[in-house]
Amino acid sequence: MNAAEYQLLRVLADGQFHSGEVLAGQLAVTRAAIWKRIQKLNQIPGIDIQSVHGKGYRLPTPLDLLDADAILARIEPSLRSRLPQLQLLPVVHSTNEFLLNQCNPVLHGGQACVAEHQTAGRGRRGRQWVSVFGKNVCLSLAWRFDLAMADLAGLSIAVGVTVARVLSAQGLYAHGLKWPNDVHVQGKKLAGILVEASGEMEGPCLAVLGIGLNLQLPASAAGDIDQPWTDLAACLSPLPDRNRLVGDLLEALLNTCIQYQQQGLAPFLETWKEYDIYMGKQVDLLMGDNMVTGIYAGLSDQGGLVLDGPGGRKTWYSGEVSLRGKT
Ligand code: ATP
Ligand code: BTN
Repeated sequence: MNAAEYQLLRVLADGQFHSGEVLAGQLAVTRAAIWKRIQKLNQIPGIDIQSVHGKGYRLPTPLDLLDADAILARIEPSLRSRLPQLQLLPVVHSTNEFLLNQCNPVLHGGQACVAEHQTAGRGRRGRQWVSVFGKNVCLSLAWRFDLAMADLAGLSIAVGVTVARVLSAQGLYAHGLKWPNDVHVQGKKLAGILVEASGEMEGPCLAVLGIGLNLQLPASAAGDIDQPWTDLAACLSPLPDRNRLVGDLLEALLNTCIQYQQQGLAPFLETWKEYDIYMGKQVDLLMGDNMVTGIYAGLSDQGGLVLDGPGGRKTWYSGEVSLRGKT
């Protein structure tokens, strides 16, 4: 989406009718140029600008567009100084990929990126993360840790706890965490976390913490999701303001990075237990074509999954393992 298309969308975001003539005057272009921009905008998943003869163009429902000032206003001023850069992008391949490519390697503090839509949002092991324009949270924060790469193994657990707590503070109560990186509501996936790190084995390391959260995901856009999913609109009313939610998530993530640098995973493990959806339940661990069944016995100090399985108690790490079970 180019700047001119985004400018037009900002005008239409109120969900009201705007005539082609008025839009053309407002944006100092021809009516044909407005029409062309509308065609381009309508190719983006989640945007469906209607054209009604005699009335003009409008979005069927208003769009709650991202606003950097509104996001930053939610972050406590002393923490804001730890976030020198917040980039707001209408459309990007992946906010994680963007930060991994763009990030200043000698970064002090954090660099964040939030997008209205990702065309190649990613999950673990090359899997896809689906989003539609303006109706989700696609947020990444890059942070430099003076820790060895191995010490970052528990970071996605700490981020999961952070997201779960922010959702509780919004009034959601039905959610839980599925090891190692998902937020679920009644067996359906609401949010996913992807932590990607680069750097020296002994440190320092740059970690990019990515969060994808569904606010209003239309079923028509979810055809590629091969597991039960849900969105916040289905479990929380009224829906939180998107900018406030992104700001709250960012503030909580900054605090988590600072605490993780100082204390590691330990302070997050107790809270993980409060949200853990599989404790004491029978689960399957999938590793490619292999499967191990056992009783889920919680997390190890490093954030591994402890399973009471056929050969006794064993700890599994998230690299190549997927957890499946019944809630
Ligand atoms: P694992 O237990 O290995 O983490 P997972 O199936 O949750 O398994 P992830 O890599 O964590 O895999 O997440 C990617 C998966 O999430 C996709 O394969 C898809 O099934 C699902 N998914 C993609 N987009 C969404 C979305 N917007 N909402 C909910 N689920 C989604
Ligand atoms: C998962 O469930 O495996 C993780 C999904 C993570 C999706 C988020 S959206 C923001 C960030 N950018 C990406 O490409 N992925 C993460």
